[in-house]
Formats: sequence, structure tokens, C-alpha cells
Amino acid sequence: MFETSTYQEQYQQFLDNPEVFWREQAARITWYKQPETILSVDENEYFRWYCDGELNTSYLCLDYHVEQGRGDQPALIYDSPVTNSKASFTYLELRDQVAHFAGGLKNLGVQKGDRVVIYMPMVPEAVVAMLACARLGAIHSVVFGGFAAHELAVRIDDAHPKVIVTASCGIEIGRVIPYKPMVDEAIATAEYKPSHVVLIQRPQCQADMQDGRDVDWQDLMASAEPAQPVAVKGTDPLYILYTSGTTGKPKGVVRDNGGHAVAMCYSMDVVYNIKAGDVYWAASDVGWVVGHSYIVYAPLLTGCTTILYEGKPVKTPDAGAFWRVCAEHGVKTMFTAPTAFRAVRKEDPEAEGLKQYDLSKLERIYLAGERLDPPTYEWLKEKTGLPIIDHWWQTETAWAIAGNPIGLEPMPTKAGSATVPMPGYQVQILDEAGEPVPAGQKGNITIKLPLPPGTLTTIWGNHPRFEAGYLNTYPGYYLTGDEGYLDEDNYLFVMGRCDDVINVAGHRLSTGQMEEIVGSHPAVAECAVIGVSDALKGQLPLGLVVLKDGAEVSAEELGQRLKQMVRSQIGAVGCYDQSLIVQRLPKTRSGKILRRTMRQIADAQPYTVPSTIDDPAVLDEIAQAMKTAGRLTT
Ligand code: COA
Ligand code: AMP
Repeated sequence: MFETSTYQEQYQQFLDNPEVFWREQAARITWYKQPETILSVDENEYFRWYCDGELNTSYLCLDYHVEQGRGDQPALIYDSPVTNSKASFTYLELRDQVAHFAGGLKNLGVQKGDRVVIYMPMVPEAVVAMLACARLGAIHSVVFGGFAAHELAVRIDDAHPKVIVTASCGIEIGRVIPYKPMVDEAIATAEYKPSHVVLIQRPQCQADMQDGRDVDWQDLMASAEPAQPVAVKGTDPLYILYTSGTTGKPKGVVRDNGGHAVAMCYSMDVVYNIKAGDVYWAASDVGWVVGHSYIVYAPLLTGCTTILYEGKPVKTPDAGAFWRVCAEHGVKTMFTAPTAFRAVRKEDPEAEGLKQYDLSKLERIYLAGERLDPPTYEWLKEKTGLPIIDHWWQTETAWAIAGNPIGLEPMPTKAGSATVPMPGYQVQILDEAGEPVPAGQKGNITIKLPLPPGTLTTIWGNHPRFEAGYLNTYPGYYLTGDEGYLDEDNYLFVMGRCDDVINVAGHRLSTGQMEEIVGSHPAVAECAVIGVSDALKGQLPLGLVVLKDGAEVSAEELGQRLKQMVRSQIGAVGCYDQSLIVQRLPKTRSGKILRRTMRQIADAQPYTVPSTIDDPAVLDEIAQAMKTAGRLTT
């Protein structure tokens, strides 16, 4: 059924009749109850897929493969250079762990529809916890371990989890990061109080336990009976994943079960050309969407062996780490963010680390999460001799909006392009007035509704925010927040965000959120945080700060304090390092700060002075201040 077509044929089938197309794709998974209604509209008048189908995602990831005779195949390989340990779990073993942990959660009162926050490092228990929630029909919300207590508290107050699952610590290069004090602080500051914390004690750090509330992972497992998968509707939520928006409050992207399972399987086939039995590795973190989709769900739904890597591309122990993992586990396809390879290239420009490993099984390297810069692309292509595939997507979509449909037919690549829209996505470039622009002309990248299965269905607890942020700007279209163009061959070129979201080392962050923190310093009258180019991390935040009259604080003292404030409220991943004191900020006559123009100045890009600017002289002052501080890229 799925062997039919070339890319053009399949894209045309989708365009001709999306419902027929997605009805066919629904057969990629085994439903408890086959969906009859493929596309419908929910109580929010938003499109939904497979509303009357019934399934269980954990069953499909585990039990199904055991039933199909894959019980002895490794499902998950844990490779942890930071703890010097490795482990492998077959489908049968992982199924049993998940069923037991689900039983444990059930004993704590977790039921279908309840939320569970998972704040974990890259250990197998993180995957077990996610799948155990899915087994019960509970909704997990994984919070990236690099986020500080405040960020965790914000998510607790939004998601109202019954239980938090955590570990005693995470391990960064040469440093143990205790998690439990952050969990305790987050619960203390959050208004909503979860009933229980389940904690895995790691040998590197013992956490204190609070009587009555905290439960040891091992104890919970020991007293639990395995739980069976619970049937959920196609439209029931599987998870909430918070992502940065333009304001300080993160958005809880909601993903459902049915569309997600179908889309994950579809993308593994069409985007990655991966089949059951293949070894697939996404070098990311379970706290990000890449981790959700391509460490956990897509590979397991497909019956692959997935790799869970607790380490870095460099220094754990060296820049050959990625090549070692690929060689040792026979990885067929690996996927990471360009920044990871920029780090490798910086440490090992001649790729000496690669030469000592047998990479004969590695067929392709996929990159996403940020713009793939040409030098990194060229270096990787030359050093590995492999196809390097760029693809573009976002937390909201869970799978590629544009990519190279390798599973249908590899298309020629074009430098700087993520290739073509995937079947399911009708990408349209619109101008400010909402009119389609001609090929080659830059504009807002939008997707004509309905979005395909697997994409977000709402923002948790705040559908108006979903509508305001994504749907209302251009009625009938989803606003991606990126700008770019389609060329005459329908190849998509993504130029970057047109909002206040920045991408630091593949981590999506909000400058608006940083501005709220910087602006809360008593000496700061107003501020703007912009993302400026960085050779390693892609972008780094830079704060431009106007002091209150009479404020007595040295630039150095203020810079240190602001750095510390952002670090303690967002986390180290914020990478907020530089503040620049300026006399005033460039604004339009209506008072809007011209962040984009300042970004262009910092990156030494050509810019036009906006006609709405209040006083053009401010731009020269800003350029001069950046130059003096050595912040200007020239
Ligand atoms: N838990 C706690 N702290 C974390 C963390 C985690 N999970 N992840 C990162 N941090 C900390 C780092 O230790 C660092 O702290 P420091 O400022 O005290 O040194 C800080 O956050 C910034 O981290 P990062 O920006 O990642 O810088 P780095 O120098 O540690 O590593 C790279 C740089 C490029 C090697 C690393 O960012 C990387 O591997 N990036 C790939 C990104 C990725 O996989 N993204 C997912 C989307 S595909
Ligand atoms: P995230 O939600 O963290 O996956 O970040 C999504 C954002 O990262 C997108 O909106 C883009 O701005 C950027 N991004 C992701 N992949 C690419 C890519 N291949 N090329 C350019 N930008 C990308």
C-alpha cells in the first residue's frame, strides 16, 4: 500500500484528497478501534484527526513488537560516557519495565487524563516514565533538565501534575547537577502542589526524601503490578511539551495520540527511510521535541533500536564521541543539531576522530533545530562522504514540515534549502497583507490549514493563545514564526525567525522572557534582548540596557548580576552573558523597539532605516556602543 509513489505523486495524492491520504496512512498502526472519521472539527472549531479511533501509544511502541516476534531485539541502547556505563533493553524488557512503572504510577493514583511532569536527565528511566504515562492514558510533560527551578515551577502551575518523576542528579561535563533541590524549590514556589515525587537515586548523588510525598523509584517498582495499556481516543492528549514563545510564559504544546502515532510512522518511512530493525540515533535530549519524536516515539513505534546518549559531542571524552557511538551500535541514521557538529569541527577540524571508527553502516546524517550553516554542511559532507540532510520543523509540528523525502525518492539538494514541503503540509509564503508572494520572494512562512496529523492541537489550558499566536494573523493559515521563500522548484529556504524567539545551541529560548528578567533589575529603566550570531552556538542573547536616571551601578557589576539572574531563573542553557549599557533604544514613533534592526547591526548585515523610526541617530549610537564593546560582527 505504501510503495506506490514518487514524491510528486504522493504530494499530489495528498493535495487531491487529504482525508483519503491520511486514511491510508492510518493503516500504518494497529488500532484497537479503526477510525472511521478521519478529519473533524472539535469544540474549539479546530481540525482534529482520527477522533473516533482508539489506540494506546505504549502498546504500539512495545507490546505490539513483542507480539510481532521482536521481543528479543534491542529496543533501547543506553550509552553514557558521563557515567562510563552502557545498557541495552530488549522490547520485552522495556515493555516489562514500562508496565511495572505504569502500575506504580497507578498505585499513586495516576489515571487517564492526569498529568505527570518528568524532570530527568538522559537515563532509561526517563523513557520508561514517558511510556508508562502513555500506557495509562496519562499526559506527560517532560521538562528539560537544563531548566532552573523557576521554569519548572511555571510548568507545574500550568500543567497541574499529580506526580513529578525525577532523578537525584544530572551530569554535565565534569560536574554533577543535583536535581532534587530544584524540584523541592519549584514545588515550594509553585501554587499547585503535586501529590508525589518519584525519584531515582543515582550513585553520583543521593537526594534527601520528604516523608509521605517522595517515593523511591525502586520501592515503587517493587510493590507494583504490571499495568495493561488503556485504550484512548485518537484525539486524547499524549503529552504537553512547553516551548518558548514571545512572552515570558512558555506555551504548552499539546499532542494527541492518534495523529501522532500515524505521523511518527509516516515520517520514519518517508523522511528517514527507516524500517523495523534499523538502528536509529537522535543525539538530542528527551526534554526537547527531537527527543520526544525521534529518541522515543518514532523509533519505537517503527520497531527500531533507538539510542539514548547521555553525553556531549565533545569532551565526553573527545570529539570522536559521535563517531564512536555510530560505529559501536551500528547506527544507520543519525540526527542532531548543527551546533553539535560545529563543536566537533572546532575541536577536531580534520576529523581525525572519525578515522578510527568503522562507519560503514551509517548511511545518512540529518540535521535540524536551527539553520544549517554552509561551512558546517560542507565540512560534514566532505569528512564523512555521506548525504547530509537538512530538514525544517518545530516543537509545534513534531515532524518535518520540509525535508528531503528520502523514503520516496532522494531529491537533489540546494545549498541553504531544507528541500521541499512534506506531503501533509501546504506551505505558503505570505506578505504582511496575507497575499501569496511570487516564487523567490521572501515572506512569512505559513501552512494552509488543516495541519497534518501529529501537529499541535491546542495550547494547554489556553486555546485563545493558540488562536492568537498561530491562527488569527492569516485566517486559514498556521503562522510558523519563520520567514523565508519558496523558489521556482518549490524548494523552501528558511531564513530565520521573525519574532522574538532565538535558538542558542539548538535550544529554543525567548528573548521576551529574558527581557522580563533583565527589566526587573532595580537599576534598569528599559531593555531589549536580541539574538546575535555566534560561530559555535548559532545565536547568543545580548542585552541592551538603559539605566534609570541616577542609577549607581558599574557596567561590570550590572552585567554579572543580570547574568546571574537569567541563569537562576531560566537556567544555564539561557547562555545570557553580555549586557551593553546604552543611552536609549531605537524605537518607532509609536514606541515599538526596533529589535530586528539592532540584530542586523550586530550581525553586520545590511539594513534599511525603518521609515517609522523616531530618531535615526539612535541607530548610530547603538552601532557605536556595540563596536566599543567588541560586539559588532565585522
Ligand atoms: N542539565 C543541566 N545543565 C545543562 C544541561 C542539562 N541537561 N544542558 C546544558 N546545560 C548547561 C551546560 O552545562 C552549560 O553550563 P555552563 O554555562 O555552566 O557551562 C550551559 O547549560 C549551556 O549549555 P550549552 O549551550 O549546551 O553549552 P555547552 O558548552 O555545554 O555545549 C554544545 C555546547 C554545542 C556541545 C551543546 O550545546 C550541544 O551538544 N548541543 C546540541 C544541542 C541539541 O542537541 N539540541 C537539541 C535539538 S536537536
Ligand atoms: P524548536 O521548536 O526548538 O524545534 O525550534 C523551531 C525553530 O528552529 C524553527 O521555527 C526555526 O526557526 C528553527 N529551525 C529548526 N529547524 C531548522 C532548519 N532546518 N533550518 C532553519 N531553521 C530551523
